[in-house]
Amino acid sequence: MIAIGNDHAAVTLKNAVCEHLKEISVEYKDFGCFEGEKCDYPDKAKEVCEAVTSGQAEKAILICGTGVGMSIAANKIKGIRAACCSDYFSVKFTRLHNDANVLCFGERVVGAGLAVELVDVFLNTEFEGGRHATRVDKITALENK
Ligand code: RB5
Repeated sequence: MIAIGNDHAAVTLKNAVCEHLKEISVEYKDFGCFEGEKCDYPDKAKEVCEAVTSGQAEKAILICGTGVGMSIAANKIKGIRAACCSDYFSVKFTRLHNDANVLCFGERVVGAGLAVELVDVFLNTEFEGGRHATRVDKITALENK
């Protein structure tokens, strides 16, 4: 299952991403917020990332105005490697090399067409492991300090 969450600045793009996940038959849970609601991105990042760290979700997608606030908040949570990306290459390599488990982007930055491409590469690219695993382990060590 893929967890997805957003703040009030990103309801439209979140809906477009959910529509895409439905079309490609990827199971997801939409944690909101929904049309007409307001929420603070750190609260939503916490809720959605906890779905990942608890094992309920395999990966997550967080969307706010820029994607930056969501990624800063998400990266405070132990076990989360969130990448804020608005290009294909960065998403591909953050999966291959960083084993990113959360993808963030912004409704005010990327259009829906690009966003769904970013989601596809995020979901379909496997971590390379090997020397990259050693480096990811060092990130985990930093987190455990
Ligand atoms: C909300 O206005 C905006 O600050 C938020 O969506 C996000 O872009 C923060 O990083």
